[in-house]
Amino acid sequence: MSPTALPDLATLVAVARAARANAYAPYSRYAVGAAVLSDDGRTFSGANVENASYGATVCAERVAIWTAVAAGARRIVAVAVVTAGGGSPCGLCRQVMTEFADAAAPIVMAAPDGDPTVRTLGELLPLAWTADDLTR
Ligand code: THU
Repeated sequence: MSPTALPDLATLVAVARAARANAYAPYSRYAVGAAVLSDDGRTFSGANVENASYGATVCAERVAIWTAVAAGARRIVAVAVVTAGGGSPCGLCRQVMTEFADAAAPIVMAAPDGDPTVRTLGELLPLAWTADDLTR
């Protein structure tokens, strides 16, 4: 993706909606799908993966982000997350997004149907603690 191109958020939501079908959520029964767009134009998806040791569960957004990073991506320019009610990402996922995305990055929240809601990462995690704070 060129630095000036606007991300195709509708496509990103469609990918996240499809990814939600692969959620492994036998404990919560709360399926989540996610998709992230990297600055080189690649799209990566994820779904939540739960574990009988509940704390070992990983959210859909982090599965998508870590898949992207493991494939060599380093900057994420947009995120889509899909839940039954169009809910917003958890705090842990907002922190992980902050590692790889700018505060201006759009975070798109959608239900399986209907219009998504869009907020920037900075709106979802104001006054974020970042790697810069390590050297202050
Ligand atoms: N979950 C996500 O995948 N993303 C979030 O942002 C919030 C929560 C998952 C984790 C767990 O599998 C289920 O939703 C219930 O917490």
